[in-house]
Amino acid sequence: MDLFEHQAKELFAQYGVPVPAGKVARTPQEARAIAEEFAAAGTSRVVVKAQVKTGGRGKAGGVKLADSPADAEEKAGRILGMDIKGHTVHKVLVEEASSIAQEYYFSFLLDRANRTFLSICSVEGGMEIEEVAATNPDAVAKVPVSALAGVDRVTAREIALKGRLPEQALEGAAELIERLWAVFVDEDATLVEVNPLILTADGQVKALDGKVTLDGNAEFRQEDHAALEDEASADPLEARAKAKDLNYVKLDGTVGIIGNGAGLVMSTLDVVAYAGESFGGQRPANFLDIGGGASAEVMANGLEIVLSDPSVKSVFVNVFGGITSCDAVANGIVSAYQLLADRGERVDRPLVVRLDGNNAELGRKILADAALPGVEQVETMDDAAKRAAELAAAGV
Ligand SMILES: Nc1ncnc2c1ncn2[C@@H]1O[C@H](COP(=O)(O)OP(=O)(O)OP(=O)(O)O)[C@@H](O)[C@H]1O
Ligand SMILES: [Mg+2]
Repeated sequence: MDLFEHQAKELFAQYGVPVPAGKVARTPQEARAIAEEFAAAGTSRVVVKAQVKTGGRGKAGGVKLADSPADAEEKAGRILGMDIKGHTVHKVLVEEASSIAQEYYFSFLLDRANRTFLSICSVEGGMEIEEVAATNPDAVAKVPVSALAGVDRVTAREIALKGRLPEQALEGAAELIERLWAVFVDEDATLVEVNPLILTADGQVKALDGKVTLDGNAEFRQEDHAALEDEASADPLEARAKAKDLNYVKLDGTVGIIGNGAGLVMSTLDVVAYAGESFGGQRPANFLDIGGGASAEVMANGLEIVLSDPSVKSVFVNVFGGITSCDAVANGIVSAYQLLADRGERVDRPLVVRLDGNNAELGRKILADAALPGVEQVETMDDAAKRAAELAAAGV
């Protein structure tokens, strides 16, 4: 789960990481009220920042300086509702403006390829780190961190030094890095990134931005994390699927995909995207793994979720019978149609079904005998993908 910048900063503050004071606003009036509080306390300049879970907000015009409460209201009005890379801005962070002497980069992350944790530190912050790494690789230090040894003040200082942070920033940065390590470990994060980490005009080191990814696998021991979940900006279908224990991810194409097993569904996405190229670029509309036990109810829930997406023009059900045999899946599809009819839902888009593996013959016969409207059976995965893409193109 990714956190919003304001959530990341609230977490940082709990661990003693210095961050600018700020509050969240959902309307321009609220932004003005927050700026007025700052003004009353002697801080007239604030920064209004779009809260979206994507990078490059500044470049997109989602980070603006405001000189007065009226200005903050006006800037918030321009940022709220803005679309940044497909994310609508529903809230802004209004925080005190810092006077920046220098901007650095710092992150801790899980380096899966090398089976270790990694810290990345650079004197050249503020911009995209990939760009700095490409143009000035010597300025980007990548220091592996042992999970057993961790990061104490001495290691933190070494990391800052390797990132070429200047003398006057070293102590502050070391302290901050040590605390970020505590955030990373204690919160079970897979990423803690601060870009920019700044040195202020009066010599303080602060986290001016924050990106945190929490490891979903640690949910069982991180009870507080559920409260950070963002129902509003999560896809409503994904939320519904989660409530029904289905592994569903919304994508932006037109061919709905249902399969059993994550590996099969992943390769189905590839095959559909490839086949779709011949049909005006039809692409998968979602990932949906119904898992091992494709009961009628699971199949009905899956179909319902996929068909609730209006961009779905055809559905491809790709099943390889293993422990769950194809006749059970076929019966599942037949009962799912009945179940959906009972719920007052109608399957109004074509369904291409490919059954293979355990008891495929019997499964195909059950489906053929049921003669469900709009259901076609195709023998191979490639041909089925083609047919589904063709039907989607026809339905667009
Ligand atoms: N509180 C602040 N005071 C002064 N300047 C700020 C403040 N917050 C941000 N800035 C300036 O705006 C720039 C962009 O801010 P920030 O890093 O938060 O957004 P971003 O990098 O565009 O977003 P993202 O990291 O999501 O790509 C910073 O590099 C900094 O120069
Ligand atoms: Mg940033």
